[in-house]
Amino acid sequence: MNLVLLGGPGAGKGTQAEFLIKDFGMLHISTGDLLREAVAAGTEQGKLAKSYMDAGNLVPDEVIIGIMKEKFQENDISNGLILDGFPRTTAQAEALDDMFEELNTQVDLAILIDTPDNVIIERICSRRMCKSCGAIGSVLGVENPEEYVCPKCGGEMYQRDDDNEETVRNRITVYKENTAPLTDFYKAQGKLKKVNGAKVSNGKKNALAVYEDVKSLINA
Ligand code: AP5
Repeated sequence: MNLVLLGGPGAGKGTQAEFLIKDFGMLHISTGDLLREAVAAGTEQGKLAKSYMDAGNLVPDEVIIGIMKEKFQENDISNGLILDGFPRTTAQAEALDDMFEELNTQVDLAILIDTPDNVIIERICSRRMCKSCGAIGSVLGVENPEEYVCPKCGGEMYQRDDDNEETVRNRITVYKENTAPLTDFYKAQGKLKKVNGAKVSNGKKNALAVYEDVKSLINA
């Protein structure tokens, strides 16, 4: 199955992808992760992307589509894909359909992780990433955030350069203008499903509770 995860910044796309990889062994491609790797490696692509990313704007379509073309050529995608952060514009969605057609495959399902703006802002400002294993964590409700280590490997955590309130407000605006219309794109193809990204279980917003809904859509 080829799955597109849609949703605003901090909606929980990466978190749900982590659960899906474990259960379904699909290949996960996150354009945000690929761009951050390029920035860290100091490549020309990374240098170009950094200014867009730090401001919370979209990297130009032709750069992103080029990256995805390479990824699809380099990897065996026959066991299915989780696309996280791509497509993000109608031009990218149309390019994806064209690339998949050449590869004799298609998008099977697009899941919108629907999460309110106030929850997004709180989550993004609390998110921390592991320097060692790349796991996603959060200092929300943690008593001593400065002592917070990776819940998976005990590694040192850091905050992404674009995880601050000013940038996230712009990312939300950019999402609404450019990416939210993709829900209509996939609805018209009969492929859109939605989950509540702020689902509460045992009195707390809980990523595993969201995953139960994601999994049932995949198994349907
Ligand atoms: P990208 O890295 O894709 O950022 P994003 O879409 O803004 O999404 P995030 O990674 O911020 O959030 P997420 O939905 O994965 O949430 P997460 O699971 O981490 O892109 C960054 C930049 O790169 C863009 O701004 C753009 O410049 C550029 N870019 C990337 N792709 C591009 C493209 N295709 N075209 C053009 N430019 C592109 O969760 C967030 C936090 O919430 C975590 O702390 C997590 O622990 C917590 N959490 C998650 N779910 C729950 C839950 N259910 N309950 C409680 N806490 C939860």
